[in-house]
Amino acid sequence: MEMIKAVILSDIAETGFDIKSKIADENIAVVGFGDLDQRGFDKVLSLCPHVVILAGAKGESAFEVAGSIYFNLPHCVVMLMCDDIDMALMQKAMLSGIKKVVALDADDDTVRESVRECYRLESTRKTSDLTKSPSPSKVICVFGGKGGIGKTTIAANTALCLAKQGKKVIIIDANLQMGDMHMYFDCDPKDTLGELVYEGNLGAIEIIKSFITAHSSGVGIIASPKSPEYSEIVKAEHFESIINTLRPYYDYIIIDLPPAFTDATISCFENSDRILLLVGVDISSIRGARISLSILEKLRQDEKVTLVLNKYTKAVIGEKDVERVLARRIDYKVCQSDDLALNSLNKGIPIVEMYPKSIIGKQLKSIAESV
Ligand SMILES: Nc1ncnc2c1ncn2[C@@H]1O[C@H](COP(=O)(O)OP(=O)(O)OP(=O)(O)O)[C@@H](O)[C@H]1O
Ligand SMILES: [Mg+2]
Repeated sequence: MEMIKAVILSDIAETGFDIKSKIADENIAVVGFGDLDQRGFDKVLSLCPHVVILAGAKGESAFEVAGSIYFNLPHCVVMLMCDDIDMALMQKAMLSGIKKVVALDADDDTVRESVRECYRLESTRKTSDLTKSPSPSKVICVFGGKGGIGKTTIAANTALCLAKQGKKVIIIDANLQMGDMHMYFDCDPKDTLGELVYEGNLGAIEIIKSFITAHSSGVGIIASPKSPEYSEIVKAEHFESIINTLRPYYDYIIIDLPPAFTDATISCFENSDRILLLVGVDISSIRGARISLSILEKLRQDEKVTLVLNKYTKAVIGEKDVERVLARRIDYKVCQSDDLALNSLNKGIPIVEMYPKSIIGKQLKSIAESV
């Protein structure tokens, strides 16, 4: 059975999380959360889920959002979960295109079965409609609790591998103070994230496209601001808007993050599908990874994490030690390869392009294949 993709929009974040645990099932994936407003609706538009659950909501905003989804996303079914269900509410729900109303305190089985019922409705409708829903894009954050751990290297090489497979790929260099992604591609960006945010209108793809630096491989880069005064104007909500606008146009949006938990990085995590969390074999980076994992757990983002051990070398601390301290398995390993990494950076040609047959080249390629 195809995985049912659901988005939950709620007026209180906790209600959304409660519903997520109610519908936890191997066939149902909650791909996003949002508020019951225009931004929540934008998120639904960009994620193209099968089912949207409007949770804990009875106000006019819920019916407005439901109506917008009904008119704009014919393949998406809306379900409302609220208290005090009466005839007046059912009528409003019907007029807004809501297909199912379920009590907020309904038991887990009822809620799960209702989501499946909504999905079945949607799949039947698909067979009688020739328009195909666009394949949803994937947003991948590359993060590590410590500087210099290889985030930009992994982000650049993953992006290049995906572009070589014919995917449409864009990188956002979210390292606002010290971003250097363009150097890994030997590009000289004219405009950056700073100018883009300054210009405004982040909901318009044509505007965003005019701020993208294009690399010959097809990878697009939204470079990090060139000066600190520009970096200060880039806020969490800007990332969310840019991601939402880019999603329908790219197969992969790769975000190179700074080694810090800021509002902006948290916004990127929340809007992502996957987090590549990097760790090394030194105690400082292992500590950084442990702290990062525990914060991501608190943010309920830990399920997205893929753990990558970078600059791996047969040292005092081994792979098993890292796994023991972090209490989780390492998903991918990239060996330390100083000369190749250095030459590739100095030439501005990613390792997978310059040394495709090397061990490090193959290891980097396997990360890209996994996303
Ligand atoms: N597997 C590796 N083997 C050897 N050197 C590597 C490896 N991965 C990255 N490097 C090198 O380590 C340095 C830092 O890498 P990179 O810029 O990717 O780290 P970063 O985590 O993005 O750093 P920052 O936190 O400053 O953004 C670079 O010189 C890069 O070439
Ligand atoms: Mg970096």
